Amino acid sequence: MIFNFRKANGLTENDVTDESVYKERRAILKTLGYVGAGSLLATARSANAGPFDWFNSDEASKFVTSPLDFTKAKATSDILTPEEKATTYNNFYEFGTGKGDPVEKAQDFKVNPWTLKVEGLVEKPLTLAYEDLFSMFSLEERIYRLRCVEAWSMVIPWIGFSLANIIKKAQPLSKAKYVSFQTLYDPKQMPGQSSRFIGGGVDYPYVEGLRLDEAMQPLTMLSVGMYGKTLPPQNGAPIRLVVPWKYGFKSIKSIVKIVLTDKQPPTTWQTLAADEYGFYANVNPKVDHPRWSQARERRIVSGGLFEQNRIDTLPFNGYEEVAPLYKGLDLRKFY
Ligand code: MTE
Repeated sequence: MIFNFRKANGLTENDVTDESVYKERRAILKTLGYVGAGSLLATARSANAGPFDWFNSDEASKFVTSPLDFTKAKATSDILTPEEKATTYNNFYEFGTGKGDPVEKAQDFKVNPWTLKVEGLVEKPLTLAYEDLFSMFSLEERIYRLRCVEAWSMVIPWIGFSLANIIKKAQPLSKAKYVSFQTLYDPKQMPGQSSRFIGGGVDYPYVEGLRLDEAMQPLTMLSVGMYGKTLPPQNGAPIRLVVPWKYGFKSIKSIVKIVLTDKQPPTTWQTLAADEYGFYANVNPKVDHPRWSQARERRIVSGGLFEQNRIDTLPFNGYEEVAPLYKGLDLRKFY
């Protein structure tokens, strides 16, 4: 599998540092909204020789382009979450509700062949096969914070493309106002889907939704990889959503269907407990979960049993460029 993702853009080698370097010298990583971090991947790749060597080659430089507006990128000091943490401490209830269940139970999950459909209120419905996920759009690396509604967070280098690219290709009709997403439904492979006990009482398939303008926001990403590799099954292979300014439950995994609609679609967690989980789910330190505060979070970094690094939670998880999307909306009411 060759990843054709874009090289660093608007960044110098000093702007980011990789996990192993961080471990050695506890360097502070500068995280940007948009990052194409060549330097970050150098070490990850040498540990995984093979297709990723391509990234250092001259051929890779062909992909150095700058269609995105990097001037809006916001710099903050963040430390990259070690890959080993991000791939072993997961929420993927289809494989069980324990944080260690997904890595343990998802290893035989079949991601190839895969079919992703884009349909509904569009001019040109799309059907993508596994290979298309990696070749239809140019891939880039973006380091985002992921803030779970459970008040822990990580900083993860994703690989993927803006959701807007695929939606534009399908040509939305003017009636389209929302986008709904659906995870694969396959109880034979996903034990949580055939047992309410294992699957936490969720009504499967897991579904999520965004307003169309949120879906078109360039930060909203479909991810096919992390840490320089394809996504592991426990993180939502082969393709998942990443919406960095919203609580992690919006970032639906292992997507098979994207449907444009004219009505706000139901979402799994809102259906399960509407007073606790809203449709918007924007990260907001001022609006507490009914059972716990959202003012602070536990950043999962390194060390023993998830060394605790308590930090203030930022409005929109620090991605305040999205605030205009919610002008005039009461964020307490529409949580
Ligand atoms: N997608 C599906 N299909 N099923 C899930 O249980 N959990 C969500 C989200 N996407 C979930 C899902 C939650 S609560 C979070 S915090 C993130 O995935 C966690 O992503 P990660 O395991 O890659 O950190």
